[in-house]
Amino acid sequence: MTVELTDTSGAPESDAQSRLIAIGTGSEWWRSAVIYQIYPRSFADSDGDGIGDLPGITSRLDSLSTLGVDAIWLSPFFTSPQHDAGYDVANYVDVDPLFGTLADFDTMLARAHELGLKVIVDLVPNHTSWDHEWFKAALAAPEGSPERDRYMFRDGLGENGEIAPNNWQSVFGGPMWERTTNPDGTPGQWYLHIFDVSQPDLNWQNPWVREQMIAVLRFWLDRGVDGFRVDVAHGLIKETGLPDYTPPADAGSMGGGATPLEPGIDSDDPPTPPYWAQDGVHEIYRSWHEVLDEYEGDRVLCAEAWVEPLTKLARWVRPDEMQQAFNFTYLEAAWSAPQLRKVIDTSIYAFGTVGAPSTWVLSNHDVVRHASRLALGADNLQGDGIGPKTPGLPDTALGLRRARAATAVMLALPGSSYIYQGEELGLPEAIHLPDDARQDPTWFRTKGERYGRDGCRVPIPWEAGKPSYGFGPTASSWLPQPSDWDAYSRDRQAATPGSTLELYKLALSLRAQHELGMGTIEWLPGYDDDVIAFSNGAVTVISNIGSVAVELPAAAGDVLLASEAIVEGVLAVDTTVWLAS
Ligand code: NOJ
Ligand code: MG
Repeated sequence: MTVELTDTSGAPESDAQSRLIAIGTGSEWWRSAVIYQIYPRSFADSDGDGIGDLPGITSRLDSLSTLGVDAIWLSPFFTSPQHDAGYDVANYVDVDPLFGTLADFDTMLARAHELGLKVIVDLVPNHTSWDHEWFKAALAAPEGSPERDRYMFRDGLGENGEIAPNNWQSVFGGPMWERTTNPDGTPGQWYLHIFDVSQPDLNWQNPWVREQMIAVLRFWLDRGVDGFRVDVAHGLIKETGLPDYTPPADAGSMGGGATPLEPGIDSDDPPTPPYWAQDGVHEIYRSWHEVLDEYEGDRVLCAEAWVEPLTKLARWVRPDEMQQAFNFTYLEAAWSAPQLRKVIDTSIYAFGTVGAPSTWVLSNHDVVRHASRLALGADNLQGDGIGPKTPGLPDTALGLRRARAATAVMLALPGSSYIYQGEELGLPEAIHLPDDARQDPTWFRTKGERYGRDGCRVPIPWEAGKPSYGFGPTASSWLPQPSDWDAYSRDRQAATPGSTLELYKLALSLRAQHELGMGTIEWLPGYDDDVIAFSNGAVTVISNIGSVAVELPAAAGDVLLASEAIVEGVLAVDTTVWLAS
């Protein structure tokens, strides 16, 4: 690991312009990989039922290899009643018939490996589905039984146990507790669910639960997966005694309490909710690390942990824990050069202190797509679901322009980047979904107060003019696709100069050629505060995030890539350029 800083006593100063910052070293593939997130139900549908599936993925893998990514991560495709789009797992070691079979998975994995793509699957250890055999057995078993101890059952308060055990509120809205009914029909104990009522939390203090999940890891490792994205990796352990807690008013929905004081900038010491980021989670990941170590080929664990500040998140990627953690502080940063500089500095520093690479991410299946989010108002930076009635809806052209510029910054940074399916097409959020088409539990649990995440989950367009834009062989699509998506279709953009798809391809190929993922960035002095300027090896990156056009230096090298056309050496507003240094 190399971290050269003027001051290593804490997070770096935001205005430092010329320090050298290098990423943790090592030759493992994940340190610099670009990982493409496939949301299986919306990627490609082979059988025309309107839901994407594993054979659909296999049939379209070539296009990802052409795009130039190193790995794919698949959101859950396991057996599930789909109350939270598969993040409610009823069987961790089988494929839901909606998506295919285990044989289809093996075929997909083999094809991906043939194409040189690593494959990461999603592990959802914090909770199961209420359809899981373990939960059914827990409900059928008496209070105090070993079966009940696998989950978080508690007696209610009040004379007849009619009051929930504490005041915690679910991430999706409403109480975090549900009362059960005993087999004889009388009201029973309550169980904890951080998310939907159909997602009971497991009791991770129970060694039996730990053993079972290690068996799940081994099942997929033995099948040949290259790693796991670990869902809610900050939630498994709850504070002893389950004390009441009221999150601050501005708490983000996924983080539920650990939001930065200033968006995109690390807060000093946000409160730790009793259900997030408890110290006890770390020994679990150490044990998983040991399991992965038994397998050859640099397998990876990536934490989905909405934890701030970044110096705290870095604990998830200490050398004996996970390899990566999603950098949501970066995702949440406003479209502002000072904020981006600071979060980039802080990220590389914080992860570097434990020898881990930083990761970068702008979109995923839980947040408003960055082609819309970056043109939203400052009060909704995380993009907490937008719909027809959201005030200040984004301008589509401005959003896309900023998204292209933002991506061109991200893909020049050292470390590992995540791309969410459809962003390479410049897809915006689908804002005008009819109310009766929405499926996110957030929409239902808040009675329509929060639109939720359906807008970023609409099946993606492959071929213009085809039913479902070539998503599947029929017009069927589990969420309706907007009528004006022909222009975003992959076939229209392929080989079209200036298209977003071609911009991504070029960025990925230059990134590989110049080994930017393993590089070192140096901030370049002499630019306005509103301009990001850094070099990464042989590439100079300049991004104009201000409000006036900027003249590129006379001695600037050849343009390698530009997110918008560079006319007469002028870098227009909301444009990023890569120059040969
Ligand atoms: C995070 C996942 O990304 C999200 O989609 C899901 O709803 C929650 N975890 C609960 O599993
Ligand atoms: Mg299908």
